[in-house]
Amino acid sequence: MKVLFLNGPNLNLLGQREPEVYGRETLADIEASVRKRASDLKVKVDFRQSNLEGELVDWIQHARGQFDVIVLNAAAYTHTSVAIRDAIAAVSIPTIEIHLSNIYAREKFRQRSLIAPVCCGQISGFGQKSYLLALEASVYVNVSKK
Ligand code: DQA
Repeated sequence: MKVLFLNGPNLNLLGQREPEVYGRETLADIEASVRKRASDLKVKVDFRQSNLEGELVDWIQHARGQFDVIVLNAAAYTHTSVAIRDAIAAVSIPTIEIHLSNIYAREKFRQRSLIAPVCCGQISGFGQKSYLLALEASVYVNVSKK
């Protein structure tokens, strides 16, 4: 089983960026903890970050036939990107939306996700553990689609 973790804009700054909201771990720390747990679960992981909407769209499109599940923290594009939403709908790979922070406890503009309706579920508000919970959820989603 292969899971593609995609991270959107500004997540390369984790650790320095608003640590009171997003925590002190860097994206590399999060990737390391995901890889450790993935090896216990015998799941192969690809972990990427881009600040560019089009690059995220390309990665989603190219995931077809390559990955069983996508875990997506689209960051600010969650709230704005019809292009990312359409890419997820186009590839029909089960996609899990994740956030470090609880987007529903924040500003009004963050409380709307354009991608949620085309995802199979959402994990929001557990800090870096959102990534590990999404990894567990990926295994569940992959088993239940068979
Ligand atoms: C985020 C929440 C988004 O609203 C924000 O733009 C981010 C990070 C999160 O993980 O909590 O960049 O996706």
